[in-house]
Amino acid sequence: MNYRELLEKAKEVSQNAYVPYSKFKVGACVLTEDGSTFSGCNFENASYGLTICAERNAIGTAIANGHTKLKAIAIYSPNEDNCVPCGACRQVMTEFLAGNDLDIITEVNGEAKVYKLSYLMPESFKI
Ligand code: THU
Repeated sequence: MNYRELLEKAKEVSQNAYVPYSKFKVGACVLTEDGSTFSGCNFENASYGLTICAERNAIGTAIANGHTKLKAIAIYSPNEDNCVPCGACRQVMTEFLAGNDLDIITEVNGEAKVYKLSYLMPESFKI
């Protein structure tokens, strides 16, 4: 599974986003240590604060399937180029690494762009 394919999976699942309030669709797909992939989209609620981001939905699905070691996550929004994870999702990502770092892939001008989690979330909280 290359990063372009992972981004395509994120793009596909973004179509299922439940976003009646923000209208901002996001899809995410994680790549685990053993090469498995798990997708998730954002879903909102009339009680706005209960919204779940696409990234945490994808990560939660990986965990539910027995995978806690993540190598990469692709994020896509039809609403915005360079859609990067919110701070809460960056913190959640720090918990489930396959190695020292995580690749975060997003789309910019139709191209896959790769960030390191350590760049987007330096000095993150760990115990
Ligand atoms: N959202 C995500 O799914 N991931 C992010 O990294 C940023 C924000 C969602 C939450 C909400 O449904 C919508 O985007 C607008 O904030």
